[in-house]
Amino acid sequence: MNAVKIGLIGLGTVGSGTISVLKRNAEEISRRAGRKIIVVIAAVRDSKRRRNIDLSGIEITEQISDVVNHPDVQVVVELAGGAGEILHAVNTALDNGKHVVTANKALIALHGNEIFAKAQKKGLMVAFEAAVAGGIPIVKSIREGLSANRIESIAGIINGTCNFILTQMSDAQQDFKQVLAEAQKLGYAEADPVYDIEGIDAAHKLTILASLAFGIRLQFDKVYVEGITAIRSVDIRYARELGYRIKHLGIARKTRAGVELRVHPTLIPQRRLIANVDGVMNAVLVKADAVGATLYYGAGAGAEPTASAVVADLVDVVRTITTDAENRVPHLAFQPDCLSNDPILGIEQVETAYYLRLKVINRPGVMAAIATIFGESDISIESVIQKSASISDADVGAGATGDAAAEATIIMLTQNSLESKMLQAITAVEALDAVKDEVVCIRLECLD
Ligand code: HSE
Repeated sequence: MNAVKIGLIGLGTVGSGTISVLKRNAEEISRRAGRKIIVVIAAVRDSKRRRNIDLSGIEITEQISDVVNHPDVQVVVELAGGAGEILHAVNTALDNGKHVVTANKALIALHGNEIFAKAQKKGLMVAFEAAVAGGIPIVKSIREGLSANRIESIAGIINGTCNFILTQMSDAQQDFKQVLAEAQKLGYAEADPVYDIEGIDAAHKLTILASLAFGIRLQFDKVYVEGITAIRSVDIRYARELGYRIKHLGIARKTRAGVELRVHPTLIPQRRLIANVDGVMNAVLVKADAVGATLYYGAGAGAEPTASAVVADLVDVVRTITTDAENRVPHLAFQPDCLSNDPILGIEQVETAYYLRLKVINRPGVMAAIATIFGESDISIESVIQKSASISDADVGAGATGDAAAEATIIMLTQNSLESKMLQAITAVEALDAVKDEVVCIRLECLD
């Protein structure tokens, strides 16, 4: 059979990794795909830049249109990232009858519904394994491996940069900015690292996972998003003392009322396997009715781990290129005319447990007043500890605090409660004159 010809957009970290893997494992890959896979053209931003990879036989261009309009290219592999110009390129590739493989989570999360509809109409494939959790084959696992199940929930560490930063803050007690700079140097962070640390990247990935799991349309705009910039070392330390780790989680859960879609820092018991996923590694915990809990672990970023997912998609596309388009695996796991309209819940409708840190004046009756407010809001307290103020003041950078002996830090863990009730209670607690500063509130999930 003839070789399948590929056009590449982007020769950055993942693009270069893809070329290397395709060349190094060419024989194994063609034994699996049934045909040779050859990259014939690659679009780059700067064609004069020296690259440390063997580009022999590949035409290099600065025009993306040269790739998507190339007469011999059957599959366009988009590894440039971003949306605007790239969305146009992907649409043009599909209009020209070319299959697409992409690692672009923003593109899929924001425009996937339209892209898949177009691809479906034209009998083309758009494969996106590399868009979620780098090298972990999580898309295929949920879409195909778990297709017998009703999926109940997903909880994932799906941003390597956030995980790397939280791990270093916890283990090496390094400062936030220092660790972020290191993550950028190692090529983990997005071009704009705000996407990582503010949780947007994880929200893109969670949007995709939730659609695959629950058969709903991609709805990025309904995801509740919180990053890690408000996390202080002192909270990481208190959490540890209480037997928890703080991880940045993407959580998608199907409840009777609807679907929860949320990304935020979360305390999880340190005895859970996922609590021990450190550094740039990713992990996704899926709970499903037949199989129970399954955990997928691996490198969530980096050149060759992500290339592993890109090339696996290429092999899938090549294998099915000649098959009947109607009978291929649907892009979002469920047949496009069978998607459900389950409502996505607002964060105030979510039920979860909480870690709270309060700075208070240390005098009789303060704890009782706080406990009364929580009781009246229907919130059950799981445990409480009190710390001398001097420790926390230094850690949270509160500056001079006057008479430290008269202050105390209270750490509370609560049982599950409605977020709306928790917000109400926090407002009432902050209004007490014995409570200084805003209450620090981090959600807690037992994941049992
Ligand atoms: N910036 C992403 C991360 C890269 O840190 O996980 C992989 O999507």
